[in-house]
Amino acid sequence: MRTQIFNARTQKENGTNLGGRIIRSGGLVAFPTETVYGLGANGLDGEAAKKIFEAKGRPMDNPLILHIAKKSDVKQLWLHIPENARLLMDAFWPGPLTLIYLKSELIPAEVCAGLDTVAVRMPEHKTALALIRAAGVPIAAPSANLSGKPSPTTAEHVLEDMDGRIDMVLDGGSCRVGVESTVLSLVGKPRILRPGGITKEMLEQVIGSVEVSPSVLAPLAENAIAESPGMKHKHYAPDCTVIVAEGSPRQAAGSILREYGLAEASGKRCIIFATEQTKGYYRGKNYVIIGDREQPATLCANLFDALRERSHGVDIIFAEGIPTNDQGLAYMNRLLRASGFTLIDE
Ligand code: TXA
Ligand code: MG
Repeated sequence: MRTQIFNARTQKENGTNLGGRIIRSGGLVAFPTETVYGLGANGLDGEAAKKIFEAKGRPMDNPLILHIAKKSDVKQLWLHIPENARLLMDAFWPGPLTLIYLKSELIPAEVCAGLDTVAVRMPEHKTALALIRAAGVPIAAPSANLSGKPSPTTAEHVLEDMDGRIDMVLDGGSCRVGVESTVLSLVGKPRILRPGGITKEMLEQVIGSVEVSPSVLAPLAENAIAESPGMKHKHYAPDCTVIVAEGSPRQAAGSILREYGLAEASGKRCIIFATEQTKGYYRGKNYVIIGDREQPATLCANLFDALRERSHGVDIIFAEGIPTNDQGLAYMNRLLRASGFTLIDE
């Protein structure tokens, strides 16, 4: 299959109109959102959704998110709209928040992986909204990477993984948030299954206390049942080892310098993911500044790009752990998973 590439800015209408037709006729279109690029198919067509799993090599037990262009479209997808959902939709949609609730009978089993719930979000990216409108159906879309790889934040990343496997890519440049949406379950007590740009603190301002699934910061135990099936699968792995150093900036930098030295001495090629606060420690070493520890959203914005782009020709990436408040929770969730929970021992 030849993958057509359209520039979402210069070929705006043509791109989204053709993309909409491809989706309606059962094909696959990758498109930008404010979080990461999505790999879209008709969300009401089980056969079309199945192609997403094939193109990504995604396990069929991992459900998809439905993307809508208008808040009221959620009505047809859920049994009803709970009060908490109404409040959150008003506060954060369009935006990087996915809500899970009991599904209606419209949802194909492939989309929700046979569960009785379905995940829905209204993205804020103009191209995503235009594509959904042109398609005229909710678009089922996971991140547009091969299963297990870091999520794509540029069209180039999408093509690295998906060229020849999908019908079309809409190129809208880099994604602003850089990590996938916050996934919040509203079945029972509100619970974050995956942290993202809309933080626990922001959610609690609107609906009060919100739980965080323990698997956000810890590996899932062998026999545990995954609340979110995505959490049990390998994730975000670049082409090299990732090692995380926790503690204060000074402690983290100290541990990294020690391990970097040992690794280099044994012939390994290393790179350090530094922050504005710690770059001074790494003079003379191979490092790249990922962002500012005081503004974890800046770290989120660059992480996936750095995991893809900086892992070429490198054996080990060393990265600093940061506090898990605000967007720090999303950053540590992705970084720990990318590392397979490999921490430097004290
Ligand atoms: O920002 C995003 O959410 C991006 C863009 C494209 O919108 N999409 C995305 O989709 O990250 P995906 O499929 O890569 O991640 C969806 C996550 C998975 O961990 C999945 O297991 C979980 O949401 N999920 C989806 N439906 C669920 C459900 N009904 N119950 C529990 N978890 C669910
Ligand atoms: Mg994904």
